[in-house]
Amino acid sequence: MLVSLFICPLCQSLLQPASDTWRCDGSLNPRQTVHAFDVARQGYVNLLPVQQKKSKAPGDSQASIEARKRFLNAGHYEPLQVLIGQQMQQLLAKDKPVAEQNKKPVTWLDIGCGEGYYTQPMAQMGSEVLDILIAADISKPAVVELAKVSKVAGQLWYQQQAVAIATNRETNKTTAIYPLVTSAAHLPLRPRSVTGISSIFSPILPKAFAEVLIDEGYLIIAKPDGGHLASMRDALFDSVREHDSDKFLQELSPYFKLLDTHHVSAELSLSAEALADLMTMTPYAYRARNEKRQALLAAVEQKSFHTQAKFVVYVLQKYSAK
Ligand SMILES: C[S@@+](CC[C@H](N)C(=O)[O-])C[C@H]1O[C@@H](n2cnc3c(N)ncnc32)[C@H](O)[C@@H]1O
Repeated sequence: MLVSLFICPLCQSLLQPASDTWRCDGSLNPRQTVHAFDVARQGYVNLLPVQQKKSKAPGDSQASIEARKRFLNAGHYEPLQVLIGQQMQQLLAKDKPVAEQNKKPVTWLDIGCGEGYYTQPMAQMGSEVLDILIAADISKPAVVELAKVSKVAGQLWYQQQAVAIATNRETNKTTAIYPLVTSAAHLPLRPRSVTGISSIFSPILPKAFAEVLIDEGYLIIAKPDGGHLASMRDALFDSVREHDSDKFLQELSPYFKLLDTHHVSAELSLSAEALADLMTMTPYAYRARNEKRQALLAAVEQKSFHTQAKFVVYVLQKYSAK
């Protein structure tokens, strides 16, 4: 079933997943040699070759991942997590019967997944909706974190295959996760192999996404909406520039049509610790002058800080080539 989903990041030949080492078949490599990628003990595969790295440790740092994990696991952005899950479920429920008829797996890519706050509920959907979930990020510490949690939950692809063999079933009832360190610009996926992609506060590469999506495949994008964390930004900066929420839609328009736009918000009442985590995980807050950050945190020691998180979720569909 999985033979042709992944491609080698070095020579683009077909890449065969396994529980210990993934190997490409070398067919597109002029030297015909085979590239091998070991599965790390935490359960992820690093498919980011040095030549695709623009820095030594690309993507989010361990510190920002820790801050985001504490903040998100406290449930502050749960309304967004729920909305994304609902949207995906609705889209895939329609596609699953058709995919089943064609004996094709339903496959989703969460690009820039971070440590997986929005990815984990996708994995809970089960194979009656979603067969394969590729959790991909350029940050190794983020993927390590996600892989560890998935391994404990028995959701990794090789764990699923082992259960299917042990129970003498062709497939398992649980969605199988593949945690990958990779760049959104060089996705190690066969063209037209993926049913849907989500990019949640993460890079958007219209052409690269369109290439790996099947015809009429889906794209879910989450971004901050106008007025997101407005009171925090007012406290941190002398002048506040609004988010350009939908500028990127123009770049997507040659490949995707917009199906739906959803707005969701959450009232936040934050302790000093939660506010400090929010500032660490929010790139523009990190750019604020240190004295402004310290003054805000000192004020919050006395009483909790109120602000509103506002998000916009776009649901798009790739045009059919026909
Ligand atoms: C703001 S975080 C969002 C993480 C997660 N989606 C969430 O909302 O909790 C953006 C993520 O994109 C990743 N990222 C940045 N550039 C990337 C690239 N070129 N390819 C893949 N991931 C990338 C970062 O490492 C980071 O984990």
